[in-house]
Amino acid sequence: MANNEDLFKKIIAHAKEYGFVFQSSEIYDGLSAVYDYGQYGVELKNNIKDYWWKSMVQYHENILGIDSAIFMHPTIWKASGHVDAFNDPMIDNKDSRKRYRADVLVEDHIAKIEAKIQKEVTKAAKRFGDSFDKEQFLTTNQRVLDNKERINTISKRFYSSLDKDDLEDIKLLIEELGIVCPVSGSKNWTEVRQFNLMFATKIGSVSDDSNEIYLRPETAQGIFVNYLNVQKSGRMKIPFGIAQIGKAFRNEIVARQFIFRMREFEQMEMQFFVKPGEELKWFEYWKDKRLNWHTAMGIPADKYRFHDHERLAHYANAASDIEFDFPIGFKELEGIHSRTDFDLKAHQEYSGRKIQYFDPEINESYVPYVVETSIGLDRTFLAVLSHSYNEETLEDGSVRAVMNIPPFLAPIKAAVLPLTKKDGLPEKAREIMEVLKYDYMCQYDEKDAIGKRYRRQDAIGTPYCITIDHQTLDDNTVTIRERDSMKQDRIAIDQISEVIRNRLKIA
Ligand code: GAP
Repeated sequence: MANNEDLFKKIIAHAKEYGFVFQSSEIYDGLSAVYDYGQYGVELKNNIKDYWWKSMVQYHENILGIDSAIFMHPTIWKASGHVDAFNDPMIDNKDSRKRYRADVLVEDHIAKIEAKIQKEVTKAAKRFGDSFDKEQFLTTNQRVLDNKERINTISKRFYSSLDKDDLEDIKLLIEELGIVCPVSGSKNWTEVRQFNLMFATKIGSVSDDSNEIYLRPETAQGIFVNYLNVQKSGRMKIPFGIAQIGKAFRNEIVARQFIFRMREFEQMEMQFFVKPGEELKWFEYWKDKRLNWHTAMGIPADKYRFHDHERLAHYANAASDIEFDFPIGFKELEGIHSRTDFDLKAHQEYSGRKIQYFDPEINESYVPYVVETSIGLDRTFLAVLSHSYNEETLEDGSVRAVMNIPPFLAPIKAAVLPLTKKDGLPEKAREIMEVLKYDYMCQYDEKDAIGKRYRRQDAIGTPYCITIDHQTLDDNTVTIRERDSMKQDRIAIDQISEVIRNRLKIA
């Protein structure tokens, strides 16, 4: 398989060629960091949503789903802190006129020093062979220690300046580190400025500032402001959760990573309301549950890791990301955050409404604490795509591009293929299609040689191909070909639906 950068390019090209993901507005040269999902992409996306919704809402009696509006009262974003603090520090290069996130420039610089450490380790491992002790090397080698110290000093200074909003020092740091613009190669930087990531628009016909509203940058606030509605109408007792799937919008500065970082994307979020003091227990519970959700898809566990936050947002008392090993490296896929009572208290204060829970067990009212699980649907899609895309060299030397998508998520579950276009085979195949399509997303295809049709289905990840041949007309049996092993079995027509159902079970 190609190196990771090539692999990422291949996945993007494959996603376009086979109708998974298209650049938005492509015939107008595209809109940066905005994407459309094609005919197979939308099916895969819907299947991921369905898997999340079932495991969060349907399988938990104490989690209810909602679907709140994208437009919300502008004061909500004041209360949540997004108006004042949902910023990225940005810097422009005067020669290339390209804009960068200052934190990303510094983090990329740190990553280069980390790569140097890794290089030393690889060199030493080669030199010492079996007797190499990595732990000892990392704690004693002077060059490694110096580089670690450099990373520490840079991180400490950067985050301390960021916390103090000392943008001048961030610029100074970028200059001192000799960071150059990857496009122009120059150090000709502007000042660092804070850039709010929310998209604003006007509501109503009068265009003045008082009509300004935002496209929501997260779905979570729609849940917080409906806490009382759901708790009361659903007669919910704490602990309970509210879940929703929906669009979110962020005017991202760094936007060149396909669907990893988009300006319009979808989140699947769940806020779990708990008794104060019990939040860290539930935080651990949801960390565990959510990791299981990922690995139960059938993607190997070593593709995932936790990244516990050392620097916490002002509203959190614990936070951890589930990172996935994307072709662009291990990156955040989902966040699990213990958000204390920050959001509900803020909405209580800004709205003037009492947002509390009367706990009959202790005869007291309190503002519940919240543990949230927040996952990007598009990033999950990219994780599934990255895991699934494979190029296999077959015995005859040819290469097959196959998407080993977990069968229960596959866009098309079965392809119905008459071996030839004559002798009554298409009619028989149509009969089978007419029955199967009410159970699964199926595709009928009679064009080209059967081998070519199998490859087309492999490329979109169809787990089963049903082939109707002359024997079918005699004994009502078909062959069922399994995508990954390419093994073919002969089964009776009336068994097809059940055989597929059995193979679509979640790991
Ligand atoms: N309510 C908490 C929240 O929004 P977040 O870490 O900002 O937390 C949660 O976002 C998840 O949403 C991320 O883990 C990521 O999967 C996804 N996400 C965030 N920004 C995104 C973007 N620009 N494009 C695609 N997905 C994004």
